[in-house]
Order: sequence, then structure tokens, then C-alpha cells
Amino acid sequence: MQSAVILLAAGQGTRMQSDMPKVLHPLAGAPLIHHAMRSARAAGIERTVVVTGHGASAVEAAVAALDDCARCVVQEEQLGTGHAVAQARDALADHRGDAFVLYADTPFVRPETLDAMARARADGHGVVVLGFEAADPTGYGRLVTDADGALLEIVEHKDASEAQRKIGLCNSGVVCADAGTLFELVSAVGNDNAKGEYYLTDIVAIARTRGLSATVVRCDEAETLGVNSRSELAGAEAVFQARARAEALENGVTLTAPDTVFFALDTVIGRDVTIAPYVTFGPDVTVESGAEIRSFCHLEGCHISEGAQIGPYARLRPGAEIGEGARIGNFVEVKNADVQRGAKVNHLSYVGDASVGEGANLGAGTITCNYDGVFKHRTTIGAGAFVGSNSALVAPVTLGDGAYVGSGTVVTSDVPGGDLAIGRARQVNKPGLGAKLRARLLALKAKGTR
Ligand code: UD1
Ligand code: CA
Repeated sequence: MQSAVILLAAGQGTRMQSDMPKVLHPLAGAPLIHHAMRSARAAGIERTVVVTGHGASAVEAAVAALDDCARCVVQEEQLGTGHAVAQARDALADHRGDAFVLYADTPFVRPETLDAMARARADGHGVVVLGFEAADPTGYGRLVTDADGALLEIVEHKDASEAQRKIGLCNSGVVCADAGTLFELVSAVGNDNAKGEYYLTDIVAIARTRGLSATVVRCDEAETLGVNSRSELAGAEAVFQARARAEALENGVTLTAPDTVFFALDTVIGRDVTIAPYVTFGPDVTVESGAEIRSFCHLEGCHISEGAQIGPYARLRPGAEIGEGARIGNFVEVKNADVQRGAKVNHLSYVGDASVGEGANLGAGTITCNYDGVFKHRTTIGAGAFVGSNSALVAPVTLGDGAYVGSGTVVTSDVPGGDLAIGRARQVNKPGLGAKLRARLLALKAKGTR
């Protein structure tokens, strides 16, 4: 049966001290909210409804960027987690199946954990709550269970008795129930409590009065880590990176200095890739087997094929497609360009909006002049072409296969395959004039006049 997720994202996130909604702050190169969305998707949950509030339109745009089928509904006033869930009722009116509630500011809930909750539902439990043993339970809702482990009720910290506050088993906020049942339960929730809010957590006690059972699925506290401040965001980033590095090593990637390599949420690295110290992966990077990334590279939106060698000090920007065994060397920037198999761009170059054919060689300081101040234009370089150092290729321009360009040429028109283009001032030598000039300068220096 289909499942849905209701993602709560209405909160302001005041402690972030930010003009941007909390759930849009980036974690591992992706907006915080994408983490929970991807986790739900990985667990096979098909439908997504996001409850927005502060910064609704910006949150909506970020949600659509990942999943254009996701629905967003606005919670105008934040009256509590139960009230937030109720906002999703219309969007899921035609949904038959379970609904999970997740928080958009809680990035690490694993798909396997959501699966375990789905299994508990399949075992016949009406409401399934994700719980964890908290190192410090202060502030969390406490899960009150009986001797058999059945969940009796959830009591918020502020409403809890002294005895209940001693319970270490806490509510993560993640809940799963049949969607229709969930909305019925939520509509029965009142706001007579310490915060005057409609607590989602009250549905457990209500469910039991209606003869439904409730149970707890447990996870590690680390999974339920929520982000409320910049410092917690930095902490979450550290947690993410530590895991991503361990996973890369596990999967056969060599990291010479793991602590200096930063991955994004969607980074994909093949076996036997070597990554030297100080490399940063932005979003959407795939590196195929056996490629080598040397130190101080910044990579985003690019694909690196088998056996390619990148860096040190290379910058690959979105649309960079590096072919098998190609080489991108130091201080080279590639954007929206394919550098085909075995091609070399080894030093100090900008290759933008371009295609570099197989085995072509761009000398040091080759620049594609892709921008005329208003429009962008393409440069096409044929297979086996050779571009001498310090050449400017003024786009739109095409060099044929095996074309040659002399150093320092400003190429403004196409070069047919096999031709040689040279466009620079002709050199003139003045016999003996070098020595004369030096003697004159030395004489001036001796007089002290210069
Ligand atoms: C909630 C739980 C608590 C649990 C804790 C785990 C309730 C009543 N309490 O408490 O049992 O231990 O999370 O972190 O559910 N939100 C909305 N709209 C609202 C209110 C909240 O979208 O009207 C969102 C917030 O943006 C946040 C999440 O729901 O992402 C949780 O809300 P928050 O106020 O932080 O709940 P807690 O008091 O921490
Ligand atoms: Ca909270």
C-alpha cells in the first residue's frame, strides 16, 4: 500500500538568527529539508506533504526542486505539532494508507528506521512512535510504557510529573499511523496543557481510549538529532561528514586525510578512487572508478570518468563532464563543458561552454572567452587539436580535428581541421640593442640619478 509523509516545516527557527527559514540552511550541500525528504523517499514513501509557515514560498521552491510532486500546505499560525499535522488533511484526503510524520529540521532519520516503523504497523499496531534513550531527556516528551512495552501515553516535559521526568525513553517526534486514523485522532486533540498548544503527542492516549494499540520503535539518539541553532547545524555537518567519510572508505575509496574531505548529500564515488587532502564536493558530483582527485579541488555539478586525474587546485563547476583518462591540472576551471577522453588541460585555464575533443591538448593559460558581456557562446575544439599557451579562443568559434593554434593567438574565427592559426604581432630582433640598453641603464644607476 502507498505511504505518505507529512513533513513539519512551519517553525521560524528563531535561534538560527537568520533571515532565511531554518529548513533551507544547507547541510552537506543540500537544504536541511531535503535530508528528511530523501530519507522518506529511500524508504519507499511515495507521497509528500510539507507543512510550511515561516518563509513558505522559499520553502516551497526548495521542496519542488527535489520533488515536483510534493504538495505544500501553509500553517498560518503555529499552534502546535498536532495542529500542524491537521493542515495536511485536505492534501491527503484521497490517500489510503499510512502516513508518517517527520520534522524537516531532523535530518538523520534513516530509511531503515522508517521501514521498521512500517513493519510495526503491519504487525497491527494503530500508532507507532519512534523513541530513543536520551543522554539528557530534559525538554523531550517522555514515552510512558507498561510492563509489556505497550505505549500508554506521551507526556511533554513541561506537563510531566517528577516521576515521569525520570523516564529516559523520549519521543523523537516521528509517528506513523493510518492516514485517516491519524487525522481523526488529531482532530480530537485539545490544547489544555502547559504550552497551550495542540500536541501531536496526545494522539497516543486518545488512540488507546478508542481501542487502538500504540507501540515504540527505538533508534539511536544520533538519528533524532534536530537542528535549532547555527552551532547545532555545524554539529550536524560534522556528524554527516564523519559518516560520509567512513562510508567512502568502506566502499573502497582512498582518502589520504579523511578529515579534510567534505562530501555532499548526493556525492557518488566509485571504487578505487583516490582523494588527496583538502577536497570539497558540492552538490551533484559523480566520480567513476579509478579517478584521482588531488589536493585542493572544489567540485560541483560534474561527472568525472574512469581514470581521469583532477587537480591539484582545480575547480569543476556545474556541467563539467570529464572523459576517461582526461587530465585537469592546477588552476584550471571548467564549467558547462565536456573534456573528452584523454584530453589535457593541465595548467591555468578557463574552459567554459565548450567541448574539448578526444586527446586535445590545451596549453597553459588557454582561455575560452565565452561571454561578450550579454550572451554566452560555445567553443568547440576537435579531437587531437593543440592550442598553444596563452591563447584566447573567442566564442563562438570552432577548431577542427587536429587543428593547431600558435601560442598567444587570439582566435576569432574558425580554424579548419589540420590548419595552423597564428594571430599575434610578429617578433622583430634588433642586433646588439639588448647589450646597449643594459649599459645605458647601468650608467644611470652609477650616477645615482635613478
Ligand atoms: C516535540 C514533541 C516532543 C519531542 C520533541 C522531539 C510535541 C508536542 N512534542 O517537542 O514530544 O520529544 O519534539 O524533538 O509534538 N512545528 C510546526 N508547527 C507547529 C509546531 C511545530 O510545523 O505549530 C514543527 C517545528 O517547526 C519543528 C517540529 O514541528 O520542526 C517540532 O516542534 P517543536 O516546537 O520544536 O516541538 P518540541 O517542543 O521540541
Ligand atoms: Ca524541538
